[in-house]
Amino acid sequence: MKVLLAGATGAIGLPLLSALAASGHEVVAVIRDPAKRRLVTDRGATAVIADVLDRDALLRAVDGQAADVVMHQATALRKPSRKLGPDDPTIALRERGTAHLLDAARAVGARRFVTQSLITGYGYLDHGDRILTEDDEFGVHAGTVADLVTDSSLATERQVFAADGIEGIALRYGMFYGPNAFSDLFADAMRKRAPILPRGKTGTTSFIHVDDAAAAAVAAMEHGRGGEAYNIVDDQPMSWRDFITTVARVHGTPRPVVTPRWLIRLAVPYLGCLLIDTTLRISHAKATRNLGWAPVHASVTDGLTAR
Ligand SMILES: NC(=O)c1ccc[n+]([C@@H]2O[C@H](COP(=O)([O-])OP(=O)(O)OC[C@H]3O[C@@H](n4cnc5c(N)ncnc54)[C@H](OP(=O)(O)O)[C@@H]3O)[C@@H](O)[C@H]2O)c1
Repeated sequence: MKVLLAGATGAIGLPLLSALAASGHEVVAVIRDPAKRRLVTDRGATAVIADVLDRDALLRAVDGQAADVVMHQATALRKPSRKLGPDDPTIALRERGTAHLLDAARAVGARRFVTQSLITGYGYLDHGDRILTEDDEFGVHAGTVADLVTDSSLATERQVFAADGIEGIALRYGMFYGPNAFSDLFADAMRKRAPILPRGKTGTTSFIHVDDAAAAAVAAMEHGRGGEAYNIVDDQPMSWRDFITTVARVHGTPRPVVTPRWLIRLAVPYLGCLLIDTTLRISHAKATRNLGWAPVHASVTDGLTAR
């Protein structure tokens, strides 16, 4: 298939380029920084230059291109703002960015659209020991600032599912770890002795190695059904405390600086909701059954020690 890929230079984008090439797919990457062109051409893709948030520039960039599928993997989470707000670029990428990429999909004649969604759409709440599936309600509010993220995940899903003449598929990813993802970001923070670990009990969540996330995107593109969402997570949910201390051990960084919970909530309210208040144990059974995909790395410990 021919794929138009937004977010190709990111933590999931780079392994995804390699996975698509290995499966014989042809990729046109939408990148916004011409200096990153080599990152995609070295992985067998060609590049067009556009900011996904600039609809006219995007449509100009894809003019004359043809593709079977559009994939939306663009976020701006590498340098998240401390105080999440409605003007957050990742929220804009999920809301306006999805609309612009759907217009691009129509322009290039694509009939399928795979978008990046997030398991936190099940709600930034303590779901306890219950294993959540795609049958659980998505877009659940917690009454905190994190609802902005929930709404943006729901917004991208709704748009692709409702798009006329396009089979929209959503991948509800667990927390990314692996090269350039959360584990690397937290390792860097610990090297700088930045306070990240809340004192006391943390939440527990489902994670996914970026290579497994990329493999799932290829499987969804090839075998996914239009109008369906798939949870893409590993087998063993982990507490943030265990995640952060495992990252420190495997990366050989200083131990995490333990921080009062109130300070995390005050300084980085969104991170407080994610690290302290949210427990999400998620099943990938549907993706395994219907996409023929399963994570190679069953747990964060497996995935980090396989580096
Ligand atoms: N499920 C999760 O846990 C989850 C989900 C998303 C992200 N994250 C975390 O966030 C971090 C980053 O991961 P990531 O791969 O999503 O993000 P990333 O590595 O920052 O990559 C985002 C991609 O989107 C592109 N992009 C951003 N804004 C764009 C725009 N306006 N127009 C066109 N392209 C745009 C970036 O291009 P440039 O190279 O030009 O910046 C990049 O290719 C990781 O630590 C990851 O763990 C986690």
